Parts: sequence; structure tokens; C-alpha cells
Amino acid sequence: MKQPKIYSSLFVFTLFFLSNTFGQEKKNIEMDTSLNPNDVGIFDSDLLPANFHKERRQKLRDLMPDSSVAVFFSSPIRNRSNDVDYEYHQDPDFYYLTGLREPHSVVVIHKHPVEVNGKRTDEIIFVQPRDSKQELWAGKRLGVDGVKQILGFEVVVPNTKFSKTDCKIDGMNYTFFPIDKNDTRDTKSKSDLFDLKKLFLSQTVRQTGSPNLARYMAQLREIKTEDELVLMKKAIDITCKAQFELMKNLTPKMAEYQSEALVEFHFKNEGAEHAGFPSIHGSGGNSCILHYVSNRRMFEENDLLVSDIGAEYHGYTADVTRTLPVNGKYSKEQAIIYNLVLQAQSAGIDSCIAGNSFWVASQVANAIIADGLKQLGIIKKTKDVKKYFPHGTSHYLGLDVHDVGTYGKLTPGQVITVEPGIYIPANSECDPKWWNIGVRIEDDILITKEKPINLSECVPRTIHEIEEIMSKK
Ligand code: GLY
Ligand code: MN
Repeated sequence: MKQPKIYSSLFVFTLFFLSNTFGQEKKNIEMDTSLNPNDVGIFDSDLLPANFHKERRQKLRDLMPDSSVAVFFSSPIRNRSNDVDYEYHQDPDFYYLTGLREPHSVVVIHKHPVEVNGKRTDEIIFVQPRDSKQELWAGKRLGVDGVKQILGFEVVVPNTKFSKTDCKIDGMNYTFFPIDKNDTRDTKSKSDLFDLKKLFLSQTVRQTGSPNLARYMAQLREIKTEDELVLMKKAIDITCKAQFELMKNLTPKMAEYQSEALVEFHFKNEGAEHAGFPSIHGSGGNSCILHYVSNRRMFEENDLLVSDIGAEYHGYTADVTRTLPVNGKYSKEQAIIYNLVLQAQSAGIDSCIAGNSFWVASQVANAIIADGLKQLGIIKKTKDVKKYFPHGTSHYLGLDVHDVGTYGKLTPGQVITVEPGIYIPANSECDPKWWNIGVRIEDDILITKEKPINLSECVPRTIHEIEEIMSKK
């Protein structure tokens, strides 16, 4: 199928967008003079190599059908309020395929080479040109030369030329364009890409039929390469260290925000750029709120604290949960629930064998928790387990905390979480002695050809070990 109509409207939009966004920059001279990485804002020596991204683009091409092209936009800058934006975070697909962490960029990936600007190429990237005035406020840019020399692209074009460059998209059988479900229209911004993307999407989805870019990206991203596993291991090690420091320093005199501060200090102190998701520090009744993030409550003496945290290192995030007694000792009821969750988690982890279904750990953990809760008299029927264990045990982990994947069979190179939990809020239909007990235990599991490897096992999980560490503070 051909795709004739989109480009006239597309170019009107892009022209509008670019003339508004980059009009000012035309006054300044392109100034790629030095390629010392420090001079273009690169200070880390362990970033993914250019070859990694190049190989990923080729793997995507291998999956794409003949006569197709995929277009990826960088994430938009998102406004927080007035003149303050949220800290910029690159779109994970865009980062995976390019290594570029700057906004206002577009990469066009063709299945087969086409002629663009007099060169035969199967990929074109449009990037922010260097600009001394803009860089004074917002930091260094790689610029055209930096993207060529550091990220290894051959055809790099300033984004100011996007609307004038014929990328040979017209006439392809399939034009793929990924959906960013978080995208919203920014009515205040003249450079908003929302309408352009919606237009692109409505045209392309209708014409693409079954081939599916999101599926290709999930197929690629769910299997981690050696290079990615190095960064994931680093993110996980930092997170484990933060959990360990929390065990050593937790006291009932603290507030949730102080235990959050303690772990996030360790993230940054160990070189993580961010937390990969808002830290969950739920104590007492808040331990029963699955994604509790306000973290304002003062601890009370017999509270449990669910600490669900993950450092993000060079884009890759960890996700590790421990449930700790703030006074250093689990009560009798807390220990019973804790050990049931631990038993379910251990069996779940053991079941993560290549070839098994993605859902195997959830099924195994669910059966153990249902049996346990019945024996304790907390539920009567197996199906009621959902009242107290309302989520699955696993998600993929990677550039997103809930990473993309195909949810088929477990395959070597995948990293998934195993995180069962039991949450018994106050006023539940069971003996009040169980109320306000919320327990979740979560580890990051690498699927291999043999047994699963627990990448976060360096932070203890058993009651005996945790109480021992906490007693030494
Ligand atoms: N770490 C939060 C979650 O997995 O949902
Ligand atoms: Mn998780």
C-alpha cells in the first residue's frame, strides 16, 4: 500500500513547528569546533558504545518488512509549571536506537538504503545544532559533529532542515511511528508535536495493518545484551546498597520521607542519575497501598515499612523491594505473613526457567499464598486470594521499570522482577491482629539457559539476616 496523503500536511506542521522552535537559532552560527567529549557534555566513560545502538538499528531493520521506514521522535520537554520544566528524560526507544539524550530530534530508519542529500543511506538523524546562547542556559549539546563522531551516525542533519529534507518516506509500503501514550497537547507551546504525531499516527495505523513497530521494539528490548546487563547490574548494585544502608539506619523515630532521603542519597552518591520511578516508602497502613509515593507519615514503633526502590543508571533501572520492621524486630503476625511471601517469592524465582510461560512465577506464588492465607483463616476460598494479593508477580525490567516485552515464553537474556505481596488493610474481613500488615519482597531475575540468576540477591531477604543487620545499628 502506498501512503500518499500524509506528507503535504506533515510538512505544513513541521514547517510551523520548526520555524517557531528554531527560528531564533538561525541567527547563531553552527559551532562544532571540538570533539573532546567533555566539551559536548559527556562526562561518563561507561555509556553504551555507538556500536551497540548501531547494531540495535540493524536488528530493527531485520524485523521490518520490505519497503518500510520507521520514524522515532525524541521525548518532548514536559512543563512542570510556569517556566520550570521537568528534568528531561529521553524516550527509551529513541535512546536505545541512538544513544542521544537530547530533545527536538528525529531518527528515520529505512529498511533499505535510499538517497538523501546525495548520499545512499538507510538512516538519517536530525539533531539540535550547537548554539552558544542556548547552551549557556540549558547545557552542552552534541551537535552535528558530536552525533557523527561520538554516536557514529553518518547522515546527521540539523533539525532546522527537517522540513526541507526529503527522507524518502513517501512511497514506502509501511511507515511506522510509535505511540507515546503519555503525550498530551501543550497549548502554550508553539513547538508542540502533539498534532503532528496524531496526524502521523492516524495515517500510518490505518495503512500498516498487522506489522507492528511496538512489537518489534518489545522483541528487541526484552532481550538484554552483555552491554546492557553491565549497566543493569550497576543500577541493581546501587539499589541493593541503598536497601542495605536503610536496614542499618532505620529507626522508629524517622518519617517515611527520611527513609526515602536515605536511599536516594545513596543512589546519587553512587552515580545514578535518577530514581527510575518514584520511591515507595509505605509504613504502617501505607504498607498496604501498592504504589504509595507521598511518603510523609511518621513511623510508629511496630510498623512495617515497604521500601520499593530502583536507581536508574545510564537509562537502566533496578526495582528491588524489602519490607522491614522499623524497630528491627518483626512481630509474630508480621513474621508469619513475611515468611509466606518469602516462600512464594523463592518458589516463583525457582520457576523462572527458560521455556516456561512469562506468567509462571505469578501462578506459583499465587497458589502458595492462597494456601497459606486459607490455613491462617484469613480467607476461606482460593479465589479470595486476590483481596490480599491483587497484582501479578512480574514485569520486564530495563530502560523502563515496567519494561516492554512480548509476554511469551521466558527466554535467556530477559530480566524480570518477581515480587509477590500480601496487603491486609485495617477493617479487612479477618482477625484484626493481621490489620495494617503489608509485605512485598521483590528481586530482579536474569533468565539464562540454566537456572535463573537473582541479580539483587546481595541484599538479604530472610527474617534472620534482616534482624541481624538491623540489630547492629
Ligand atoms: N516498583 C513498582 C512496581 O513494580 O510497580
Ligand atoms: Mn516492580
